[in-house]
Amino acid sequence: MSKFLLHINGKSYPIEAQDDESLLSVLRNHLSLTGTKYGCGEGQCGACTVLMDGAATRSCQIPAAAAADAKIMTIEGLEQSGRLTPVQEAFLQEGAFQCGYCTSGMIMAASALLHDNHAPTDEQIVTAMNGNVCRCGTYPRILAAIRRASSASAGGAR
Ligand code: FES
Ligand code: FES
Repeated sequence: MSKFLLHINGKSYPIEAQDDESLLSVLRNHLSLTGTKYGCGEGQCGACTVLMDGAATRSCQIPAAAAADAKIMTIEGLEQSGRLTPVQEAFLQEGAFQCGYCTSGMIMAASALLHDNHAPTDEQIVTAMNGNVCRCGTYPRILAAIRRASSASAGGAR
């Protein structure tokens, strides 16, 4: 058992967790931040993607204790005072989801991409999003949403 602080969406949380308990498990089961989804649990689907110090990170693959010094952002932390980010708005406007299970991971991955590259080409978008799986096959709309967010935000994606 380890005791540590996690810094999530601008707040600090004291955590007591098993040494090998994943960040995903702590987010969902200790803190009720259930916007981050459990998909494969093996680093293969991207449903659990969060930002760690700005980088898209699979929270199922990180022991929570290893994230103690990082700034973590989850889907719950994007909206500010009722305002969605350009990426969130673009996903809504393009209807870039069906069941929605992959959506928070997609949005977090897209947010990291647009922070690092304000005007990605389609090829760069596809490469960056390649590890995020949508079993509903909404890839064309996800691509359209990221294009839309890119031109709408000019870099203010998160
Ligand atoms: S649940 Fe983490 S990559 Fe699939
Ligand atoms: S919208 Fe259903 S998995 Fe992507």
